[in-house]
Amino acid sequence: MTAPTRALRGRLLSFTDDPATAGAGGHTYIEDGLVLLGGDRILEVGEASALLARVSAQVTVDHYPDALLLPGFIDAHIHFPQTQVIASYGAQLMDWLERYAFAEEQRFADPDHAAHVAAFFLDELARNGTTTAAVYGTVHPQAAEAFFAESQRRNTRMIAGKVLMDRNAPAGLTDTAERGYAESKALIEGWHGKGRQLYAVTPRFAITSTEAQLEAAGALLKEHPDCYLQTHLSENRREIETVRKLFPWAQSYTGVYDRFGLLGSRSLFGHCIHLDDDERKLLSDSGSVAVFCPTSNLFIGSGLFDRAKARDAAHPLRVALASDVGGGTSYSMLATLGEAYKVLQLQDQNLPALEAFYAITLGNARALGLDDRIGALEVGREADIVVLDARATPAMAHRAERIATLEEELFLLMTLGDDRAVRATYVAGAKAYESARR
Ligand code: GUN
Ligand code: ZN
Repeated sequence: MTAPTRALRGRLLSFTDDPATAGAGGHTYIEDGLVLLGGDRILEVGEASALLARVSAQVTVDHYPDALLLPGFIDAHIHFPQTQVIASYGAQLMDWLERYAFAEEQRFADPDHAAHVAAFFLDELARNGTTTAAVYGTVHPQAAEAFFAESQRRNTRMIAGKVLMDRNAPAGLTDTAERGYAESKALIEGWHGKGRQLYAVTPRFAITSTEAQLEAAGALLKEHPDCYLQTHLSENRREIETVRKLFPWAQSYTGVYDRFGLLGSRSLFGHCIHLDDDERKLLSDSGSVAVFCPTSNLFIGSGLFDRAKARDAAHPLRVALASDVGGGTSYSMLATLGEAYKVLQLQDQNLPALEAFYAITLGNARALGLDDRIGALEVGREADIVVLDARATPAMAHRAERIATLEEELFLLMTLGDDRAVRATYVAGAKAYESARR
């Protein structure tokens, strides 16, 4: 056996299955546990009392007595060029894009700016306990390049792509079908599977791509079937109306993507709020993933994601959860869970705490097809781990005096928690962040 290089001790929580179907059998919890790390991998997980004897004096044991250790959080949809767009006032999607997102994204033609923002962004994810994300760049290949280079330097597992957009956007933000194809192809060849980096073909949404460009995106996926596809779908009523006008031959918005071969088990569709039953069937039959972005949907005023309908037996959808910063308002997947709960409450639906924490760990890992590598505290998995403190703020500590169960503690974390509840984040076996608070 490889010798352990580091050990983390604390209260361990990890999921083996969706608690919605598996019940209490869906998670494992060890009150005083130890995770042994060997380089970038998890070597062993178990009771501290049993494993400590096997750890030599040279091995650092990071002990977090009251903290919860979970697999690092996974964010299934986020825009790294929107760190200075987040918190932009008073607009719904189409105006928000034009006034704020498109204006800011033009700055990413400058590779130094892109590198600087990529570093900020990855710092911020680590501060929030997020160790993997599906990330949009801008149209500029040099910005995607800068992002991958920074992620590679930190050894974070990231999925990212250069945005494809060849119409209905400012001149500084458009490519062409041919150029977008060639630039994406070069990025795939340079980065997909290099270290922990993975590529997502990223047409922004149907409105900003010609049919020729969507066809090129389909060709890229055919040529690189292990790459991802990420785009936006059915977020806002005006958006849907515009898609109808631009693609009059299509049965539906989803039908546009389907026509160009963009549906499939590695395809991530952000939002999926206003889908009809035919669209749900297309997504369901193809194994595509609907990405629920609660803080964004509330902030941009787009609508309420219907989780019950997404789980409906007729056309069950694979669902992932995401922040969608900068339409979304928090980098924290804890805050994202808290807002997801409220979005569902407004529809008389619920989100039990165990299901919620499953969603941002193993659930999202499964949605991204990465559950053999990340998303669980299990032997052989990549050692991405978050350390959480449910008493991180005075209000949390005060409320915690009344909690008696793990579920209550998790619900407190998702309702009142954010970056302040993250004590430390480990990426590939190394400490990437530690809170200054203690
Ligand atoms: N639809 C197309 N582009 C975007 C974007 O950047 N953010 C959101 N929320 N929706 C989009
Ligand atoms: Zn988005």
